[in-house]
Amino acid sequence: MIVTIDGPAGAGKSTIARGLARRLGFRFLDTGAMYRAVTLAAKQRGHDWSQQEKLAELAGQLRLDVSENHVAVDGQDVTREIRTAEITNLTHYAANNPGVRAVLVELQRAAAGDHDFVTEGRDQGTIVFPHAECKIFLTASPEERARRRAHELTERGQPITVEEVLRRQNERDASDASRSVGPMVAAGDAIQVPTDGLSPEEVLDRLEAIVREKMPS
Ligand code: DC
Repeated sequence: MIVTIDGPAGAGKSTIARGLARRLGFRFLDTGAMYRAVTLAAKQRGHDWSQQEKLAELAGQLRLDVSENHVAVDGQDVTREIRTAEITNLTHYAANNPGVRAVLVELQRAAAGDHDFVTEGRDQGTIVFPHAECKIFLTASPEERARRRAHELTERGQPITVEEVLRRQNERDASDASRSVGPMVAAGDAIQVPTDGLSPEEVLDRLEAIVREKMPS
């Protein structure tokens, strides 16, 4: 069974998708980590961001390992490095690149294989797994998302104000929603779950109930 969780940055997708996979005993894939890893690898190689085709070529050559808790590129552990503000701000080059998306979409389908799978991103229910048995679109108000993200970054030793997160988040939302390939949009058959005011446990309870209802008995 495939469960897709899409939605904007800061809606809680990562925590929730990971927790849901654990509760269900399914494998888990964080597809944003793949766009981040391509971005980091390109930056480390001194990539010229105006060269779109070169970036797609590089994505096709990299060995990406995205496991439950670690991300590696060509054997180098980059779990922490892909989460810096600099990489977050550069990732739109990879995310808006059709060639990069084509490479990563294939890797995502291969990772799912025949497994029971929870995958999170922007285009999982629309482009990557249009036949997924259960599709969730997780949302929260921009202010709530910015508050959560500022808290998370500050906890991680990268202090930032809610206003600054909100400004960058608005830019990213606009970029994610408007790209011509793989835009962030809810699949027609996705269940929308607003998470404002809910604890992660409450969101997980809700999603687990939704998935279990759709499970073949
Ligand atoms: O979820 P995240 O913040 O780690 O995602 C990083 C970037 O990658 C973000 O700008 C959206 C983009 N992304 C995407 O375009 N498609 C996906 N399936 C996942 C993430």
